[in-house]
Amino acid sequence: MPSDTLTIVDNRTGREYSLPIVDGAIRATDLAQISAAEGDGGLLSYDPAFLNTSACRSAITYIDGDVGILRYRGYPIEQVAEQATFLETAYLLLEGELPTAAQLEAWEEDVRKHTYVHTNVTKFLEGFRYDAHPMGTLLGAVGALSTFYPDAKDIADPENRKLQRVRLIAKIPTIAAFAFRHSRGLPYVFPRNDLSYIGNFVNMTFEIGGRHEPNPVLQRALEILLILHADHEQNCSTSAVRSVGSSHVDPFSAVSAGVAALFGPLHGGANEQVLRMINEIGNVKNVPKFIESVKSGEGGRLMGFGHRVYKSYDPRAKIVKKLADEVFKVVGVDKDLEIALELERIALSDDYFTSRKLYPNVDFYTGLIYRSMAFPTDFFTVLFAIGRMPG
Ligand code: CMC
Repeated sequence: MPSDTLTIVDNRTGREYSLPIVDGAIRATDLAQISAAEGDGGLLSYDPAFLNTSACRSAITYIDGDVGILRYRGYPIEQVAEQATFLETAYLLLEGELPTAAQLEAWEEDVRKHTYVHTNVTKFLEGFRYDAHPMGTLLGAVGALSTFYPDAKDIADPENRKLQRVRLIAKIPTIAAFAFRHSRGLPYVFPRNDLSYIGNFVNMTFEIGGRHEPNPVLQRALEILLILHADHEQNCSTSAVRSVGSSHVDPFSAVSAGVAALFGPLHGGANEQVLRMINEIGNVKNVPKFIESVKSGEGGRLMGFGHRVYKSYDPRAKIVKKLADEVFKVVGVDKDLEIALELERIALSDDYFTSRKLYPNVDFYTGLIYRSMAFPTDFFTVLFAIGRMPG
């Protein structure tokens, strides 16, 4: 009997089966041969939340959730966040290796060429109500791109797929900024291709009357946050894109499903919920009472805590916390930082949270940073979506 096999005895029938083990996994379809009665369809594996099921073999991102390791294409997230730009990171994820100087220049130029959206996009954005949630606007607009690029349906052509990839990465900041301006009743600011990827996005968002004073510390902090969000294995939104994309629909339609998945409060929407939770707590003296309400189940979950994969400190949260200090040095300490710190302090020493291995995740402090950068609360998840696009 080869050693890389699994022997199963079905106690219902006494029959023995040998299943191959490849890459530390058995194939769920191999279970189908294990049958107790004619016509029962064979044995299934039941794993509704993919807790112990891999749906693909990926060399892009590696996570060891027990010890808090995250790597993009083999590079530790700490190193990528410290040294790379967002577009370099996107290139690394897409191509498997960091670009040379010439490759980076060509990639940046490619993205720059595609930052504009068809004028009709601004027209249909007008149809959204003034108080439309920007994630709803983004989701609709990304899906609508499929109507502007019918060529995107040709997914069998690798060059065509590359083109849609560039379009998505180039246009999402433009659409995001337009969603922001729409909610403020401000005229749209069009892309400026003399600026960097981040600089252009910030300018399209905040420029008033032809003026915007860029702050390099805040722009780099935003860039790092987007890098931290760029990929995260087979998470909810990536799985949504893969699932919808498996029908061979065009990439814009598939990615709009990913944006929808990200919108949810247990996924990307958590950063918005953290701030809403902190606002509700209102004062640091209310933190113990709030923690008790979470433990009793009455107060909902402690948003920004816990992770499906990380059962120790989320490595991204460590970087975010450090980043918060740098940003607060520039803009002043956020008025609610004290509440966040107290929530973290109590939760990290409370048996309810420690026994369930609930630690701060990437979303716990990002909201406070985004608020310091003058982004409104309902825009936080849109920022996550820009970051996650390469993933
Ligand atoms: N606050 C209080 N209790 C919690 C929390 C929380 N944030 N998260 C999990 N639990 C409890 C849960 O009630 C359960 O308790 P019990 O065993 O007594 O029933 C136990 O911990 C395990 O919960 P689970 O739902 O099986 O855990 P999960 O690993 O499936 O959930 C999670 C992961 C992220 C959905 C969850 O921790 C959560 O809802 N967190 C708050 C939302 C959040 O911050 N999401 C952002 C995730 S990171 C960004 C991203 O990648 O999307």
